[in-house]
Amino acid sequence: MTTSSDTVAEQRVLSFLPASPAEREAFRKDFRKGFRKDFAEGRREVGEFWTAKQRQGHALHEISYRACFKPQLPQFFIERYSRAGDCVLDPFSGRGTTALQAALMGRKVAASDGNPLCLMLLRPRLMPPSLSAVAERLRTIEQERAWRTSPASIASEHDLLAFFHPRVLEQLVALKAWFGKREESGAFDATDDWIRMVALNRLTGHSPGFFSVRTMPPNQAVSLQTQRRLNAKHEQKPPWRDVAALILKKSKSLLRDGVPSLQARDVKLAVCPSQKMSYLKKNSVDLVVTSPPFLNTVDYKKDNWLRLWFADLKTEAVACDVHASLERWRSFVRDTFTEFARVVRSGGRVAFEVGEVRGGSVLLEEEVAGAVAGLPFVHAKTFINQQSFTKTANCWGVKNNERGTNSNRIAVFERY
Ligand SMILES: C[S@@+](CC[C@H](N)C(=O)[O-])C[C@H]1O[C@@H](n2cnc3c(N)ncnc32)[C@H](O)[C@@H]1O
Repeated sequence: MTTSSDTVAEQRVLSFLPASPAEREAFRKDFRKGFRKDFAEGRREVGEFWTAKQRQGHALHEISYRACFKPQLPQFFIERYSRAGDCVLDPFSGRGTTALQAALMGRKVAASDGNPLCLMLLRPRLMPPSLSAVAERLRTIEQERAWRTSPASIASEHDLLAFFHPRVLEQLVALKAWFGKREESGAFDATDDWIRMVALNRLTGHSPGFFSVRTMPPNQAVSLQTQRRLNAKHEQKPPWRDVAALILKKSKSLLRDGVPSLQARDVKLAVCPSQKMSYLKKNSVDLVVTSPPFLNTVDYKKDNWLRLWFADLKTEAVACDVHASLERWRSFVRDTFTEFARVVRSGGRVAFEVGEVRGGSVLLEEEVAGAVAGLPFVHAKTFINQQSFTKTANCWGVKNNERGTNSNRIAVFERY
């Protein structure tokens, strides 16, 4: 059985093949045979597996990160391929969608990313403090007059006035200094961690719920020059915002659905490359649900520059793979699967979400299958989730029909 989506996929693959007509014809036959075989053997499924109509994701997911996926995606695979108490890993954790969903579903959690910001975004949401503890800490910061800072420290951050009102910038610089002092003295705790996560998330955005003047959606910060241009074009000036009040408001919203019940011993987090996850033991993982960087579609360092500033992290601390060529991407995927072969137990699975890139001319799930050849994994299934996107759909962090992905394809491999 073939469907119209097969034909479209086939045409896309054929359109980039640099082959002679005879080779193309041979490929076409093989490709059709492969597709038919996959369908016949139930290895390829096309459908709407999770939709916006389904029940909403848990409120704790509601923070932004570039190219994040919806919680319904990991939920689908966690439900299908794991049981309570199993360990679920995401080695490209991002905002931590898989990890948090796994925790909410009673699984053990392992998560890492080459970007240290990701740990700051995820850790506090796995074991959040109470709302009253957050309110109390914000009051303490106020009582210690820690929202204020010296004019000199603002002067050195003068450029950021393109985003923030001077008194908002003062609060941010002061809050950053508060975290620094708490860390230095060893007093930094789960409540500080939470407040920093919320502040990171509120830095810039397009509504009064954010600290900044109106700007891009919060999952990426534009450059200073672009922001100045935006301000001039829209004749806008950064308005006053009450940083503490916005942190408390967002905390309340994030905590409205409750929190996971998780023991510290059930959580393993790290900042490390997917190719070497020394924090994990051999055969310790039951399921991987993940989405790697897709070639060079997203620049995680550039998009996160303002968050990195607030988190006091250097851009060089972000170790993300960006691949201009398909060959390099394939080799990166292979190295990652070599590490999966070490940490995933026999019978465990890897659900590897890739997208269509380069206008649909490259189907990355086909590339993954090739990259994994020879490693102890069998390709069990490919799910192609078809969703009807609207013009404003941006649920994967990348706008439809712009650079990036616009369909979601998940190749599932089983470790033998
Ligand atoms: C597509 S995003 C994952 C988003 C995630 N699924 C979510 O819902 O937030 C890919 C992530 O891979 C990370 N990354 C890129 N190269 C990496 C590497 N070699 N090792 C670990 N993480 C890497 C990036 O920092 C980014 O957070």
